[in-house]
Amino acid sequence: MSAVDVTAAAEVLGSRLGFSPDVLLVLGSGLSHLMDAVEDPTVIPFEDVPGFPSAGVVGHAGKYVGGTMGGRRVLLQAGRFHLYEGYSGDTIVAPVRIAHALGVHTVILTNAAGGANPAYEPGDLVLLDDHINLMAFNPLTGPVRPGETRFPDMSRPYDPALQEMTVGLASSLGTPLHRGVYAAVSGPSFETRAEVRMLRQMGADVIGMSTVPEAIVCSALGLRCLAFSLVTNKATGLSDTPLDHEEVLETGARAGRHLGALLKALLAGMPAAQSTGAK
Ligand code: HPA
Repeated sequence: MSAVDVTAAAEVLGSRLGFSPDVLLVLGSGLSHLMDAVEDPTVIPFEDVPGFPSAGVVGHAGKYVGGTMGGRRVLLQAGRFHLYEGYSGDTIVAPVRIAHALGVHTVILTNAAGGANPAYEPGDLVLLDDHINLMAFNPLTGPVRPGETRFPDMSRPYDPALQEMTVGLASSLGTPLHRGVYAAVSGPSFETRAEVRMLRQMGADVIGMSTVPEAIVCSALGLRCLAFSLVTNKATGLSDTPLDHEEVLETGARAGRHLGALLKALLAGMPAAQSTGAK
């Protein structure tokens, strides 16, 4: 697959959308149903985006849905490209660069993750406070891309003001919300028990195989970023009952509904700030 041409992809998406979105919302595994909350939806399958891997390669079709949510112009992305699928770094983070080219100022990332914090249960929602990049990969390697900074500051990868707002909204909506640290691993094999013990000692609360490359590119571009993990399972070794897939799906769907209401409130209350500018 050839590299994604960010400008060409943004031109196609922009003309299909007919508007410039303020927010990119990336939906992780099991959260695609949040697309139903978009008003006046325009659906754009990934195969219509120049340079995106074809549906056959991805396995299941990814798509964009543009429209309005919480009164804000949004672009929802169901499906993302993972390191473990063998994609290049540029492909994995292309959606963030395309969103920036479209005028997006805020990126909200969601993912499915394993709970390394023993207090976390399947179905719990976690607002990411920080992350640990253990993917042995950084999407900024290579030439500095247009609009990006060479050495972005990573002291606050997730926007503190948006985090505070999220915590306040969650409490008024009665949505239980943890705040935790996400450890990104390359996958695709799950962790061993020893690896989970190590990650826990390092300070990880949740473990997953995405999100961090996108958050790093947000920092390089000066985009506001916020991220949520949906705990789909206790990390390896933290539960002695074998994982029940049906139960995980059910709890996932329940937590997904909570997340949908929270995201709507967040979008409605979010200041229409411009990009903070590359740091
Ligand atoms: N580990 C890593 N990634 C994951 C997990 C996990 O336990 N669950 C969902 N994604």
